[in-house]
Amino acid sequence: MQDKVETSADREEVLAAAPADFKAFWPEIRNSLIFRNRRDFLAFMRQNHGRIYCLPRRDAPLPPFVLVGDWRSRSETRALWVVKAEPWDKEALIRGVSGACLAEGTQRLVTRPLSHREAEEYASWGFRPLCRVVLLEKALRGVPFPRETGDIRIVHFRRKYLDDVLKADEAAFEDFWRLDRRTLERISESCLRNVFLVAKHGSRVCGYAIGGVNGRLAYLQRLGVHPEFQGRGLGESLAGRLLRSLQVMGAALVSVNTQEDNFSALSLYHKLGFRETGEKRFILQITSRELPGCAR
Ligand SMILES: CC(C)(COP(=O)(O)OP(=O)(O)OC[C@H]1O[C@@H](n2cnc3c(N)ncnc32)[C@H](O)[C@@H]1OP(=O)(O)O)[C@@H](O)C(=O)NCCC(=O)NCCS
Repeated sequence: MQDKVETSADREEVLAAAPADFKAFWPEIRNSLIFRNRRDFLAFMRQNHGRIYCLPRRDAPLPPFVLVGDWRSRSETRALWVVKAEPWDKEALIRGVSGACLAEGTQRLVTRPLSHREAEEYASWGFRPLCRVVLLEKALRGVPFPRETGDIRIVHFRRKYLDDVLKADEAAFEDFWRLDRRTLERISESCLRNVFLVAKHGSRVCGYAIGGVNGRLAYLQRLGVHPEFQGRGLGESLAGRLLRSLQVMGAALVSVNTQEDNFSALSLYHKLGFRETGEKRFILQITSRELPGCAR
């Protein structure tokens, strides 16, 4: 059962799958590694205004489709979380979905981090650059002993700290990058083995770091220090402690990514011995301004 979504005449019509049909898409969606399991996927669809838009293709068992849902907890910004289409269907699908989402009230639609080639494709369909992300890596040998943190203790995460970690995250990061509860939990469980460290000043959470290891490869997933505690060596201590844990867990190489203009993070990573790989990722966005003919 599918609802027709009206788009303007120069865009191919896309169909919105009925919620009862979401399960049928799971075998294709699971490979995207965005959801832990089918239950997590269905919960995301319910709680994050998830929708699946398809191109009508009767000759295929599953049509080309896109899964769209809120970007973190912001319903005015939505993301193209999963795109499954052959190259020749992609343009019609993405143009159709963009038109449908913007016509339905989404203020902006963002991509996931894309390669340069993919970013060029999306740009030719009306998307504009939102940010560039640089990738850095470091061999995990001889990690220096982390700096002392004075009266700030670095401890392992416990569930009771979750709300305070989210508050520290909200204070540390600019709006677009702030985490919601679901995404924070997801990030902290995303590898085979994970480390989640919290910096505490008395009972107050003033920073945190998350990393994970898959075999010999490790990822520094998240690092944030509350602005009131920045510039005192805490970010370096948290990152240093995390790197040592990742090394102890058997990782040989750790990678991290950050926005190209996040100079404090870049300076910290360089100080810790990370080197830029030269690879970049691009997040693009489309709003009604970039989509002429969108009825809003
Ligand atoms: C990046 C961040 C974690 C650094 O934490 P911090 O506790 O302020 O950093 P530290 O005091 O430990 O500084 C360590 C090094 O980081 C770099 N650094 C930190 N703040 C900096 C700034 N404002 N400008 C330039 N370099 C800076 C410096 O190299 C510094 O070394 P130095 O003290 O010898 O100059 C913190 O600024 C933050 O939470 N930013 C917002 C969230 C974020 O961007 N996280 C990283 C995303 S991947």
